[in-house]
Amino acid sequence: ADPRIARISNAIRAIPDFPKKGIMFRDITTLLLDPAAFQDSIDLFVARYKDQGIQVVAGIEARGFIFGPPLALALGAKFVPLRKPRKLPGPTVGVDYSLEYGTDRIEMHVGAVQAGERVVIIDDLIATGGTMGAGIALIDQAGGKVVETACLIELTDLKGREKLGNTPLFVLVEYE
Ligand code: PRP
Ligand code: HPA
Repeated sequence: ADPRIARISNAIRAIPDFPKKGIMFRDITTLLLDPAAFQDSIDLFVARYKDQGIQVVAGIEARGFIFGPPLALALGAKFVPLRKPRKLPGPTVGVDYSLEYGTDRIEMHVGAVQAGERVVIIDDLIATGGTMGAGIALIDQAGGKVVETACLIELTDLKGREKLGNTPLFVLVEYE
C-alpha cells in the first residue's frame, strides 16, 4: 500500500456527534494543517489525472474549492466552482436534488464548461452521493464529459457510489 494514504488518513480528524448525535464527522481541516499530507493528497489526484486529457476540474462548494484549484493548476485545466443557489453573479444552470428532508440545488455559470470538454468533479467527501450525483447531472446538462469523480473520503456504508450511475468514483480513503 502507498504510505501516503496512511499519512492522509491519520491527518483527517473524526469528531463524534457533529452536526448531530450519532454522526461521526470526518474533518479535513486537520489535513490542511499538515502541508506534507495535504500535498500528498493533491499529488495522488494529479498522478491519476495527468495523462487523461482533463480540461476542467469542477469543485463542489465548499470543500471542493480547497482541493480542486491545486489539482486544476497542476493539470493546466480550468477550475469551475459548482455552487449553492444564488451565489454566482452571472447567468446559471442548476440541478435540484433531494436530501433526507427537503431539497438542495447546485449551480454553475453558463458557458463555464463547453460541450465535449473532459471534466473531473472533486469534493472532499461522498456520503449519500446526492451532491456528487447532482454535479454529474449539471456537467452532463452542459454537454461536458465527466471522466471521473474524485473525493478524499468515501463513507462506504451510505452507498453513495450507487447514485453515480456509470461514472467512476476515485477515493483516497474509505470509512464505514
Ligand atoms: C458535505 C460534503 C459534500 C456533501 C456530501 O457538504 O462536503 O459536499 O456533504 O454529502 P452527500 O454525499 O450525502 O450528498 P455539506 O453539505 O456539509 O456542505 P458545505 O461543504 O457547504 O459545508
Ligand atoms: N464530513 C464532512 N462532510 C460530511 C460528512 C462528514 O463526515 N458527512 C456528510 N457530509
